[in-house]
Amino acid sequence: MIDDLFGYSDVPAREPLADGALLLRGYAGDAAEELLQAIDAITTAAPFRHMITPGGYRMSVAMTNCGRVGWVSDRRGYRYQPTDPDTGRPWPAMPAAFAELAARAAAEAGFAGFVPDACLINRYAPGSRLSLHQDRDEPDLRAPVVSVSLGLPAVFLFGGRRRGDRPRRHRLAHGDVVVWGGPARLAFHGIAPLAEGAHPATGACRINLTFRKAL
Ligand code: SIN
Ligand code: FE2
Repeated sequence: MIDDLFGYSDVPAREPLADGALLLRGYAGDAAEELLQAIDAITTAAPFRHMITPGGYRMSVAMTNCGRVGWVSDRRGYRYQPTDPDTGRPWPAMPAAFAELAARAAAEAGFAGFVPDACLINRYAPGSRLSLHQDRDEPDLRAPVVSVSLGLPAVFLFGGRRRGDRPRRHRLAHGDVVVWGGPARLAFHGIAPLAEGAHPATGACRINLTFRKAL
């Protein structure tokens, strides 16, 4: 339990979202400042950009990557690739502190030995959203996905394996980490349109990191 200023402890620090999915509230809070500094360096080398979906739409979320491969979308489809299509250069390396945090969180959720090789970095401005989807471009679905939320809060939609399963809504705040794998690995999920706001750490945006084993 997390104690608030007044000594209440009614917010569970570990909240199961489904079989195989766990929300760890505030788990990345202490690391947030260091993560944001590293994200600044990464996005200097590989700036945020709005990718185009295979259907020709511009995504409202701005994205970039670090790691051995990065997730990209364009008219040809979705895939992981070792280079940034905007620059032709390899994606910036994944900082050791990123991989360590993701591995620790994964282990907390029962997925020991998680070694991510890709980190998708999403930036949401107010109004940006990510519609319901499955993360299934990774060849090894035994590895979980680990998501770290920074900055403005968001509503995370987390459903089942079928698109038609009604998703539940969970508030994700600065420092929250979600891990989903095993029976939840192919759960449909998304982010509701981000509300206006300002956060001391990020200003008027939310940044999300998702760690994946993509090789
Ligand atoms: C994702 O589904 O890849 C990102 C989810 C999030 O922004 O929390
Ligand atoms: Fe996703």
